Parts: sequence; structure tokens; C-alpha cells
Amino acid sequence: MFSNKIILLLVLISYCNGQYFIPNNHFSDMKQVFSWNQIGYNFDGVKYVKDEPLQKIVGGIFFAEEREEREEDERFFIQYNNIPIGFEVFHDKVFITVPRRRYGIPSTLNYVDLKSSKSSSPLLKPYPDAESTNNFVSVYRPRVDACERLWMVDTGLLEVPNNFLQIRPPHIVVYDLKTNKEVLRYEIPADVLVNGTTSGLTSITVDVTPSTCDDAHAYINDLARNGLIVFSMKKRDCWRFSHPSFVYDVGATDFVVAHQTINWHDGIFSIALSDPDSTGRRTAYYHPLVSTQEFSVSNEVLKDKSANFETGFKLEGVRGAFSQSGSHDFHSATQTLLYANVAQDAVMCWNTRTPLTSKNSVPVAQSHSKLVYISDLKVIGDDVWVLVNQIPTFIYSQFNITEPNFFVHKGKVRDLIKGTACDKK
Ligand SMILES: *[C@@H]1O[C@H](CO)[C@@H](O)[C@H](O)[C@H]1NC(C)=O
Ligand SMILES: *[C@@H]1O[C@H](CO)[C@@H](O)[C@H](O)[C@H]1NC(C)=O
Repeated sequence: MFSNKIILLLVLISYCNGQYFIPNNHFSDMKQVFSWNQIGYNFDGVKYVKDEPLQKIVGGIFFAEEREEREEDERFFIQYNNIPIGFEVFHDKVFITVPRRRYGIPSTLNYVDLKSSKSSSPLLKPYPDAESTNNFVSVYRPRVDACERLWMVDTGLLEVPNNFLQIRPPHIVVYDLKTNKEVLRYEIPADVLVNGTTSGLTSITVDVTPSTCDDAHAYINDLARNGLIVFSMKKRDCWRFSHPSFVYDVGATDFVVAHQTINWHDGIFSIALSDPDSTGRRTAYYHPLVSTQEFSVSNEVLKDKSANFETGFKLEGVRGAFSQSGSHDFHSATQTLLYANVAQDAVMCWNTRTPLTSKNSVPVAQSHSKLVYISDLKVIGDDVWVLVNQIPTFIYSQFNITEPNFFVHKGKVRDLIKGTACDKK
């Protein structure tokens, strides 16, 4: 009786902190791949590891020069402003993106070579090379597809608070990872945007199989204007769906991350695809960031420009309190979705063979120091990888630059879900 009371008390205390007590915390089964106090760059041997004053390089992206505050917007590198937000992994390359949300970001699309990099805090190299940094304005979360290509949205936007500058229209850009050459650059037409807003185009999911590489579809979230944009590679066409399920949930705001209360209104944040069945049909799972629900829709609906989304979408269920999550991705072998659960500093899971309830959707790895704001999550083979950036600290407070602020960790999906509600045969 007494011990039950203590357990209840512990559960209540963790509940009140906004962080459930996790019976199976598998964080120790994750391996730290990288950690950085701050981000630095290596441009063909030229290293940027501390702030550079007015140093222009040919081909660098800069802000308009007509304005008065010339100094900050002409600085090539302001180290503190470089926050990694998205990533991908292809063989030995780990791509790391640094969207241009402040001044002083020398390169938005970068990589680190896992094999040759001996440092656990490697300098980022511009992708595909230092001469190409001007090819990209601002890239969020890229995606490697089943045809060995890297897809991204370049929003074309310099997103400095109170001073947004749309340098170019947004583009879908695709690189062939076998040759590191650009193979597609498609301008996203203004008619699939809302009032020209590009700041919400923060991820891309690619629907393709190795046997149909030319017939790819890309699904892009618009978290700022609550839309889902579809691109058909074959038709060179783009269309947009709007739906109430893309909008943030007022009742799910005000969760706490890094001691900051998050009152953002971010809508649809991430689209995760199940495997195709024999007819190519997949389920696309999606959720707003500020929500505890999960929705789904068939890719047959998404691929049909004139489809009725209202009759096609489905509420899968409610993941439960403090389940607000960013990126998610699907692990084929276990049919499990893995979530970047920002409200509990955790990786969460839901085995899609079970009904979506709070019992079946649980945190499986939690760390209040090393999983604070998982900004991106990818399932690669049987591993789940996460990029952590503590971004609420950057926005509302200040990083302590003498200790690690950004991390990449990975773990085996089966190890992480072992003994949890997601561990189903
Ligand atoms: C788009 O811009 C117009 C004119 O500024 C404004 O009236 C309208 O509310 C905007 N729409 C949205 C969805 O923001
Ligand atoms: C910053 O981190 C260092 C190393 O962990 C620590 O010694 C120091 O107290 C921290 N500073 C602040 C202001 O928290």
C-alpha cells in the first residue's frame, strides 16, 4: 500500500513536470554519433570556427546591402547563429542543414563524412562543394529516397525575425547521390502557396520505389499555412490540399521544452509513409506539431489532384498527454512509427498494428539533457537517428557555449521498443 502511494506520488510529480515517468527508458541503448557546443565549417580546408568579421566570399549569400545595419547582414559567419535543424543519412554521409533564420550562416546544406571524420564534433562541409553554397538559400529537413537521391525544399527565404527576405521563389531540388549532381530544380508555383508564404515548407517526404524512379511524388508540409503540397515528378505538376486536420490544436499549446513554454501555432509538421502494398498503396501518417492526435490518408488521395481530402482522411487516434511531436518516420520490419516527442524530451513509438491510444503510444527513450527538442528524426534501415538542437533555448534564452548544445544519436529500433507497448509480433 505504502509503496503504491510512493509510486503514485512519483507518477504525479513526473506528470506535473510535463514528463511522464518512463518504465522502459532505453536512452542508454542509443549511441551518441556527434555532439557540438557550436557549429563550425570547413570550406575546402578553410576553417570557420570563430566569428569572422566582414569577410565576403565569392558566391556567398548575403542580405540586401541597401539597408542601414550593414554590419551584421554582411557578416559571413556568426557562429552562435548557426543552428542545425534537419539531417539525413546516406551511407557514410550525414547531411546537416542550417536554415537561414539569422544572419551569418555561410552554408545551409552541408555534410559530414562518417568514415573520415575522427572528431565527435566535426566541422560541416558544404554540399555538394564549397563553390555551390550559392545554389541554396535556406533548407530545412531533406530526404533521401529509394533511388539514391537527396530531395529538399529550398524555401528561398532569408528568415531573420522581422526582416524576411524572399531571395528567390521556393524550389524543390534533387541531387543524385551517386554523382553528387543536381538532377532536378523545380520552382514551386505561387498558386500552391498561401500569400506567398514559404517559411512553413519545412520537410519533404518522397513516395517512390526503386523500380519507378521517374514516377516519384513528393509531399511537402506547410506548417505556417496549414497545407500539404504534392509534387508529381512525372507530370511536373504541383497541387495543394488544405484541411482542418492540418491546423494546430488550441488545447495542445503551452507544453514545456527546455524550461520554456511553447505557444507556437505550428500546423502539419511531418508526413511518414508506410510500405507500399502490392498495388503501391501506402498510408501517409501526419500530425501538426502542436497536437496530440495522429491522422492518416492514402497516398492514392494525395496523388489525385482532384481528390476529396475530407472523405479520404482518417483520425487514427490520440497519442495522449505530452505527446506533441515533430518529425516521425516508419520502421518497416516492426510496422512502428517513431516520433520526435518534443514535449517529453523523448523518442516515442506507436506500432501501427495496434489501435492508436495513449496506452499504445509511449516514450521509449528519454533524456532531459541530450534529447531536448529532437528537431529531426529519420529511420534508416533498422536504426532510428535523431538530431537534437534545444531550439527553445536559442529562441527564448541563451546557449551555454562551453557545453554541448547539439547532438546526433542513433539506436536500433528493436532495442528501443523492447518490452514496451510497441514490441508486438
Ligand atoms: C492574404 O493576404 C490578404 C491581403 O493582405 C489578407 O487579407 C488575407 O487575410 C491573407 N490570407 C491569409 C490566409 O493569410
Ligand atoms: C556553462 O557550462 C559549464 C560547463 O558545463 C559550467 O561549468 C558553467 O557553470 C555553465 N555556465 C552557466 C552560466 O550555466
